[in-house]
Amino acid sequence: MTLDGSRQVILAAVMQGYDNTSYGDAFADVYDEWYGDISDVEATVAALATLAAAAGGLPIVELGVGTGRLAFPLAERVQPTLVIGIDSSPAMLHRLAAKHAEEHADSALQTILGDMIDDLPDGPLGVVFIAFNTFFNIGSAARQADCMRSVAQRLGPNGCLVIEAMVPEDPPRTGSLVDVKSLANDRVILSVARYDGVQQTAEGQFIEFTESGGVRLRPWSIRYAPPTELDQMAASAGLRCAERWETFAGEPFTDDSARHVSVYRLA
Ligand SMILES: C[S@@+](CC[C@H](N)C(=O)[O-])C[C@H]1O[C@@H](n2cnc3c(N)ncnc32)[C@H](O)[C@@H]1O
Repeated sequence: MTLDGSRQVILAAVMQGYDNTSYGDAFADVYDEWYGDISDVEATVAALATLAAAAGGLPIVELGVGTGRLAFPLAERVQPTLVIGIDSSPAMLHRLAAKHAEEHADSALQTILGDMIDDLPDGPLGVVFIAFNTFFNIGSAARQADCMRSVAQRLGPNGCLVIEAMVPEDPPRTGSLVDVKSLANDRVILSVARYDGVQQTAEGQFIEFTESGGVRLRPWSIRYAPPTELDQMAASAGLRCAERWETFAGEPFTDDSARHVSVYRLA
């Protein structure tokens, strides 16, 4: 169901009112502080640059580019190959634009404010990548499959879709959890989460209390899938898993891996 332009209600999400702008708009101000070091940027950029070279210099697209944590260093590494970041959150792209002006004035990184399924740029594209569980921000299996189809339709002959994601726990987590993210004299941030192992969903809030600023809510919601299910979705989109590593540094993926980087190519 489309609300207006790029605002897309996530049908499977239980959290009322959560849409494809909710995460980005809630986390943009703290994203780099909280998650700036969440993964190995250098290894990610190196692996993507190698894939982009093999794709013949066609444009690279990051789905859910956020603040440009990965896209800025990648754009610098692969120039003159065009890097385009798409994101549905105005607040995230506002933060990216501020970094563009202040820290990356020479960068040729381009952005699109829009949905990563419905508003992709025209092909042919070289590498389309989606990092750090962002694929699971798409709230239903049907829309995740739509995303793969949308990418597959735009890939050049040597292009690929790269998905970096967690391997869900087996058996899946179920129930609720309240935890303390940080605690100070004048500020506390609680993490509240609810897990549904049958629906393969998890949703939560970071709740910040301050003496001066009252209460601030930061909601998140994901629909997760194991690699085997992603491979089935990919097959229905005309893609095959050509390579799978544990990380962008190329460690082999094993039965014990908690994460994966999967490279899908046209079947
Ligand atoms: C976890 S952040 C990842 C940001 C960046 N890729 C990184 O690794 O630092 C997820 C991003 O995806 C964006 N997003 C979520 N759903 C989206 C959708 N349907 N279309 C476009 N962007 C979306 C959010 O606004 C947010 O900026």
